[in-house]
Amino acid sequence: MLNIAVLGSGTGSNFRAILSAIQQGKIPRARICLVVSNNSNAGILEIARANSLPVIHLSQKPFESEEDFADALLSTFAAHGVMFVVLAGYMKRLHPRVIAAYRNRILNIHPALLPAYGGQGMYGMRVHQAVIAAGEKYSGATVHLVDEEYDHGPIVLQQRVDVSPDDTPESLAAKVLAVEHALFPEAIRLFAEGKVVVDETSREVVRSAL
Ligand code: GRF
Repeated sequence: MLNIAVLGSGTGSNFRAILSAIQQGKIPRARICLVVSNNSNAGILEIARANSLPVIHLSQKPFESEEDFADALLSTFAAHGVMFVVLAGYMKRLHPRVIAAYRNRILNIHPALLPAYGGQGMYGMRVHQAVIAAGEKYSGATVHLVDEEYDHGPIVLQQRVDVSPDDTPESLAAKVLAVEHALFPEAIRLFAEGKVVVDETSREVVRSAL
């Protein structure tokens, strides 16, 4: 059984989709063992509490350094037996120490077709504004492994959506989010079933049996 920690800072709609998939038996080999947020008001914490899942509010503020915060996160993970980490709208960059400890075991979702429209500063509505401003015909969602660079690690799954001429950033965001809600649980299922292998030379996902 894959013990997963979900980290988020906001609404938590992706977390809700993942949790529903698990509750419906669609990811039989995974369970959520911890939900962490840096924001005490995050919707993700409310959803977790309503489902009686272990919840921790962990903000960097009381810690003297980023390293101390990273160590606190790692001890919390260890205490809960975390084997795999899912970033579901987590707005804080993970310290390289955390990334190293969970190499190839941290997933993120990004609301565009990476490597396009990713990187520092490309988050939330800014992504969709940029896609529309560029006149793109397609956008989509990407699930990828997390490495030390923003939105850069090996891509696990991507799904495209059409951008219509009358789309606004808000309408495009809604279309992409709907796709995310199916794509993220599916990516987690692949990991839970051991169907994802990362080629360490190319840093690409080389086997993703769908
Ligand atoms: C999503 O758009 C996701 O792509 C991005 O953060 C947002 C999280 O939304 N990484 P939610 O909190 O899951 O509703």
